[in-house]
Amino acid sequence: MCGIVGYTGPKEAYPVIIKGLKRLEYRGYDSTGVALLDGSLKVYKKKGRVAELEDALVGKDLHGHTGIGHTRWATHGEPSDVNAHPHQSSSGKLAMIHNGIIENYVQLKQDLINKGYRFKSETDTEVLLNFIEEIKNNNHCSLEEAVRVALKRVTGAYVILLLNTEEPDTIIAARKGSPLVIGIGKNEHFLGSDASPMLEYTKEVVYVNDYELAIVKPDELILKNLGNEKITPYVQKLDIELAAIEKGGYDHFMLKEIFEQPQTIFDCLRGRLDTIGETITMSGIQQYADQIMKANRIVMIACGTSWHAGLVAEYIFEELCRINVEVEYASEFRYRNPVIHPGDVIIAISQSGETADTLVAIENAKAQGAIILGVVNVVGSSIARTSHGGAYTHAGPEIGVASTKAFTAQLAVLTMIALKIAHNKGTIDQERYVHLLNELSEVPSKVATALKLKDQIRILAEKYKDARDFLYLGRGYNFPVALEGALKLKEISYIHAEGYPAAEMKHGPIALVDKDLPVVVVATKDAYHHKVVSNIQEIKARKGKVIAVISEGDSATAAMCDDVIMVPEADEIVAPMISVVPLQLLAYYIGVAKDYDVDKPRNLAKSVTVE
Ligand code: G6P
Repeated sequence: MCGIVGYTGPKEAYPVIIKGLKRLEYRGYDSTGVALLDGSLKVYKKKGRVAELEDALVGKDLHGHTGIGHTRWATHGEPSDVNAHPHQSSSGKLAMIHNGIIENYVQLKQDLINKGYRFKSETDTEVLLNFIEEIKNNNHCSLEEAVRVALKRVTGAYVILLLNTEEPDTIIAARKGSPLVIGIGKNEHFLGSDASPMLEYTKEVVYVNDYELAIVKPDELILKNLGNEKITPYVQKLDIELAAIEKGGYDHFMLKEIFEQPQTIFDCLRGRLDTIGETITMSGIQQYADQIMKANRIVMIACGTSWHAGLVAEYIFEELCRINVEVEYASEFRYRNPVIHPGDVIIAISQSGETADTLVAIENAKAQGAIILGVVNVVGSSIARTSHGGAYTHAGPEIGVASTKAFTAQLAVLTMIALKIAHNKGTIDQERYVHLLNELSEVPSKVATALKLKDQIRILAEKYKDARDFLYLGRGYNFPVALEGALKLKEISYIHAEGYPAAEMKHGPIALVDKDLPVVVVATKDAYHHKVVSNIQEIKARKGKVIAVISEGDSATAAMCDDVIMVPEADEIVAPMISVVPLQLLAYYIGVAKDYDVDKPRNLAKSVTVE
């Protein structure tokens, strides 16, 4: 949550920062601001999106070769001009942006008020900034030293970027818990919450670690720990292309990302799944294959859509590997003193690799001796680096706030891991193993077929867009798909939607069924198909409207439903990757029909770096 950008070098900083902020808006978009250094410090900030700030700044003095910018997702203090970042210190000499939460800010604020400080905003950021200035003035030290001292007294999570009028070409940066990437150019440096603001300028980046402080000048990057010892920056090469973060002719990133899925699933399988050699190659898993096979249990830890991927994986791992699996919300797991035995295997699932709860949950489990495997999309992210091993999902940058292609790529990776372990362990026979390898390899083309339903789904969206509530039902492997369909609808169209196991409907939700309630039933052919069909009849008997996702050719089920969406038949283990696609499209087209900003739904942020 919150995107941060910085630049120092020969270019004008403002255009670099504004473009970077637009790319980081997925991280929060309720207010935005920039600070530019050009002898004097100029701070412009405003409630609203980056484009609104840009419009408001036409004609203003935007000159400066060093600057910082921020796009906010409010934590402390409502979205407003005054709470927007950057904040300025009492003296007016320092400006700071912050992504994270300072937990002990109330105490710090009171101490500063007692010393005569007055605050303009309600933010924890302004408190930290004045705390730093107070230390700088009291100790007569450099800003760098003051930041170091201050951060030792701060609890919480942060990335901060600071400008100081006394050092006009320098940005001081520090991180704990929230991401920070520094791009290295020719006599210039770029800073960002991720690498997207710097893609057209450099491919060389440094991922700053927790408890590190960076002193960034045009021609110099110094990294230090909080003990003031220098650290050699580890420079990595980026392999993301600019095209990957542009809309490429689609109306929205979400639609583009839904349509990328045949390719992203293919990219995820490529080089790993070999249907001819009948092998799955995943080096980051192979290293831990023995421990996974011997594990008493596997715990999947995730949030949001990634948690739904974990639920599908629970069914797959238990079925194929005969290992007990638990699926945990990271936010609950981290605070409930869970029993962890050395040798427990934790699989952390995360698109961004930066979700604060997931990150802390795995750090805790790691400290207790668990083996941590990451199933992560963003290369070099915090969760990827904290994990012992794992596998990247290779879905490419996902920018739409509602996750789509990351989900199907997570399922592809998790299915491959389960198949590999089951094969090693001997809990799957060769015939089924080979069958599933082939089924997996056919998923990209079946997803491509499902995408051809887009016009039909757009018409359905028009038909149902005014419903007040939706129910989503599924059984077995399709139950988490129902949850994911409901989540997509909530996120994008602000329609209340609940996902339920189809049979559980009788224990409550059936009371809601009437002629006005659309019920989306995921009823593709699987072992429980006849059971789901009974549930459809129960809904019809109460005059509910059934929209069913069924397998091609299933005319018997089609005849019972109000509307059907037919997807290619697939083995139940891989079916969720296909059956979720029409639900993504349905949510998308309902959101568009209601004229909502589907890429940036209200109150949400893509990367939840605060707990
Ligand atoms: C946010 C996003 C969701 C995502 C969840 C977990 O809520 O809006 O789309 O599923 O975070 O994020 P992660 O990056 O850990 O998968």
